[in-house]
Amino acid sequence: MQVTYRIKRFDPEVDKTPRFQDFTLQVGENDSVLDGMIKIREEQDGSLALRCSCRAAICGSCAMRVNGEPRLMCKTRIRDAAPEGLVKVEPMGNLPVVKDLVVDMGPFWQKVRAVKPWLEPPAAKPEREYLAPNEAMREVVGVVACIMCGACVSDCTVWEVDPNFLGPAALAKAYRFVADPRNTDNDERLKSLTEYTGIWDCTHCFYCVQACPKDVAPMERILALRREAIKHGYTDHNGVRHSDSFAQSVKDSGSLNEGRLAVETQGYLNLPALIGLAPVGLRALKAGKMPSPLHHKRPGASQVKRIFNELEKEEKTT
Ligand code: SF4
Ligand code: SF4
Ligand code: FES
Repeated sequence: MQVTYRIKRFDPEVDKTPRFQDFTLQVGENDSVLDGMIKIREEQDGSLALRCSCRAAICGSCAMRVNGEPRLMCKTRIRDAAPEGLVKVEPMGNLPVVKDLVVDMGPFWQKVRAVKPWLEPPAAKPEREYLAPNEAMREVVGVVACIMCGACVSDCTVWEVDPNFLGPAALAKAYRFVADPRNTDNDERLKSLTEYTGIWDCTHCFYCVQACPKDVAPMERILALRREAIKHGYTDHNGVRHSDSFAQSVKDSGSLNEGRLAVETQGYLNLPALIGLAPVGLRALKAGKMPSPLHHKRPGASQVKRIFNELEKEEKTT
């Protein structure tokens, strides 16, 4: 079948801004997007820069945006990605472009290194090997599947506005070690993950879950890290107050009380932070987005409360 590839090109030595270039070619019914890209490079333009290696969804080097979605090119069939015959290929987002479709993975690896991706063994030499229980390792296996492709980072909405954010891949990796029963320094790890750029900065946009070609579900790992951090006593954080206030206001009234959420997230006694909210309040007022100070209970609020109570009871017994 005939398809057109619309590829984003950028050569820092020649181009001031990126541009799109079209290539038309014949591809097989079962060809992957990567098969087509390699054909273009071999038959039409040898200067096209892209990364690939295994062609089997193992090495993690061919992650790019295909028709707007972060994907592994070797795992994506042309016929699925582009039923209309137009394959638009762009480099991954949120990472600097080196040339054409090649991005600088430096910031990605820097974040992974920052979470100390290794096991901290016990201080004293153990008498014999440690046998990890199957049950505990089951949790870890899902994250070990990560191939470090960076697809999750490509569309992370927090990384986009704050490049200091550790990001979904590094945080999933951190969870891999926190959940491993052989690790001995969870307290230290969780403490540092609770700081700015860590687990509480994620906004639950779900993009990383959608993007991951290995079903690592990084956002779920971040939520699990938050639960662990709370269990370890790291609760003095806006993120913890925010989620507690969110849940409590829905429990009390059946819906979110945004005014209360803003104040309780900062803490009632945190006067400088509360004063700092004033400009935000003024902007919200101007835009007609100021929540009403009179928050009313929604019809059926008692049913919502009952669900909360049941869940809390269940949580206590597990
Ligand atoms: S869920 Fe969190 S980590 Fe995942 S993409 Fe969204 S903001 Fe980033
Ligand atoms: S978590 Fe998934 S998307 Fe992110 S780097 Fe690992 S395999 Fe790739
Ligand atoms: S080429 Fe290795 S994952 Fe695609």
